[in-house]
Amino acid sequence: MGMGGRRNLDRSGQPSDNPDARDGPGPRRSRRRDPVHHLRFLHPAMKRIFSGVQPSGNLHLGNYLGAIRNFVALQADFDCIYCVVDQHAITLWQDPAVLRQRTREVTAGYLAAGIDPKTSIIFNQSQVAAHSQLAWVFNCVTRIGWLNRMTQFKDKAGKNREKASSGLYVYPNLMAADILVYKATHVPVGEDQKQHLELTRDIAQKFNNDYGVEFFPIVEPLIQGAATRVMSLRDGAKKMSSSDPSDAARINMTDDADTVAKKVRRATSDSELLPDPSVVTGEGQFTAAFREARPEAANLMTIFAALTDRSLAEVVADYEGKGFADFKKALTDVAVARLGPMGEEMKRMVSDTGYVDQVLHDGAERAAARAQPIIDEVYDIVGFLRH
Ligand code: TYM
Repeated sequence: MGMGGRRNLDRSGQPSDNPDARDGPGPRRSRRRDPVHHLRFLHPAMKRIFSGVQPSGNLHLGNYLGAIRNFVALQADFDCIYCVVDQHAITLWQDPAVLRQRTREVTAGYLAAGIDPKTSIIFNQSQVAAHSQLAWVFNCVTRIGWLNRMTQFKDKAGKNREKASSGLYVYPNLMAADILVYKATHVPVGEDQKQHLELTRDIAQKFNNDYGVEFFPIVEPLIQGAATRVMSLRDGAKKMSSSDPSDAARINMTDDADTVAKKVRRATSDSELLPDPSVVTGEGQFTAAFREARPEAANLMTIFAALTDRSLAEVVADYEGKGFADFKKALTDVAVARLGPMGEEMKRMVSDTGYVDQVLHDGAERAAARAQPIIDEVYDIVGFLRH
């Protein structure tokens, strides 16, 4: 898949235009146009990967294609830390028993997808106190104006902003802390997390400026693969999401073959035949006009290409002029072939909690050992007395 190759890195990781990020009482540093230039010369072993998934609903195809399968690919070349972010989950109320269950489920999803808990670190966030310790410092670095621009808060809080938890509002500070408490340099995510990662860069830069240090790296998002934004099966304009009230809108990693078949069969489509190759650009993407005119067709074909590791051009050429019925059958087959074994493995692991809990416990110890020296240094930089 060529993961980790520099030319595959997402170019969205350009310097933030946010001028506030550079304001601060600390001495001015020379401004770099390319904030990761110091990484470009590093051996892969010097890149540190961190990412996380919330245990706040079912793991679905969007999580898998947008994030988890990239986590798996990256571990061959890089030092990786993968977190189950239970503290993020409670920004919206969670039933405690269900939260425990889902924390194990996400862990099982990581393992079943192929993350090796010996090479990579897998743990749940609340077991490593350094995340919330650094988050507090970041609460004091981030400007309220920056948080006010976060679209995810606006989406999740909806009209009832006054009643949203304050945790939901400062959530991006905790997310920045998750990453920076390990001085991670690269963060594989789906497209919806891009804005949070831009904020993480601003926070790192402002901390460095405020205290006159070159301490935190400026992280680079890795938004990779054919399906960085998987859309709902019911509405091609909406993201596939665990919080969608309709289960039919998503394919869960633990759905059985019959359920997948039913969801794909009922997925919203349109009355036209599948398109000819003119809808694919030279870069191998669907044209904006096609995505706009036929979002559901674009989504289903993108999912198909991602699940089969084939290019959109090939998939389009294969199904040109066919109806949705044939295509949906083929899509069901590849989804079941790819997800079925993982879903089974997840169910097996969740029913025997011993192994999963052990993985989380070991991972938390290793993660805490990595984070502690960094939080100690942060405390020294900020002026907190220790011992
Ligand atoms: P979360 O739990 O919503 O999603 C986990 C990962 O799955 C990706 N994803 C998608 N990708 C493509 N299409 C979709 N429909 C889709 N839905 C979800 C997300 O982009 C994400 O990569 N804030 C994060 C969790 C987090 C985190 C972090 C991530 C907390 N701390 C530090 C990276 C680094 C979130 O809510 O992801």
